[in-house]
Amino acid sequence: MTDWLRPHPIIPVVVADRSDIGADLAQALDAGGIACAEITLRTPHALELLAAMSAGAPRGFVVGAGTVLDEEQVNRAADAGATFIVSPGYDPAVVDRARALGLAVLPGVATASEVQRARRDGLDAVKLFPADRLGGLAMIEALAAVFPDMGFVPSGGVGPDNAAAYLAHSAVPAVSGSWLAPRRQLDAGDLSGVTERGRAALQARAA
Ligand code: 3PG
Repeated sequence: MTDWLRPHPIIPVVVADRSDIGADLAQALDAGGIACAEITLRTPHALELLAAMSAGAPRGFVVGAGTVLDEEQVNRAADAGATFIVSPGYDPAVVDRARALGLAVLPGVATASEVQRARRDGLDAVKLFPADRLGGLAMIEALAAVFPDMGFVPSGGVGPDNAAAYLAHSAVPAVSGSWLAPRRQLDAGDLSGVTERGRAALQARAA
């Protein structure tokens, strides 16, 4: 399964509209054992946040871009220091551009047809989005039965109550979600609890 995901079973999805928290957020996550973050390109200052995080992150911490919808956003994310690209849906142009730049890519799927296309394009992991609306673990069971060589990263509705259950499935190399660093907190510059939630999520997975 996709090697880059292996050390990152829990991917924090970051939606925030300020860039001054970049280094501190990376350090808070890292202190809890979470060495990555997906900065979603949904807010006006997202690329600045990505760049600040990438520049101020501890050694080994990887920063990616989420909600990447086109090739130009892939270019901008790469310029800002992203090493992986996440999309909500499946767009071969985004996948191709990310790969051309040497970036890891995790496109979203919601149907068997999209998984099949991802497989044809040589991918061995996809994001399942929105996982909760699609049926959660039952959907993963159904897809994994017909695509045994594909990894599924559920996103959407993942949190402390279900992350460990998803991760216990052999087809799930990682989960992603915004619960570790919720937007309302980040926009207020409040990083309290980020480290603890990361640590708790990793402990729940190990239990
Ligand atoms: C997203 O892109 O917003 C992710 O799927 C996170 O969803 P969540 O806020 O439900 O964790």
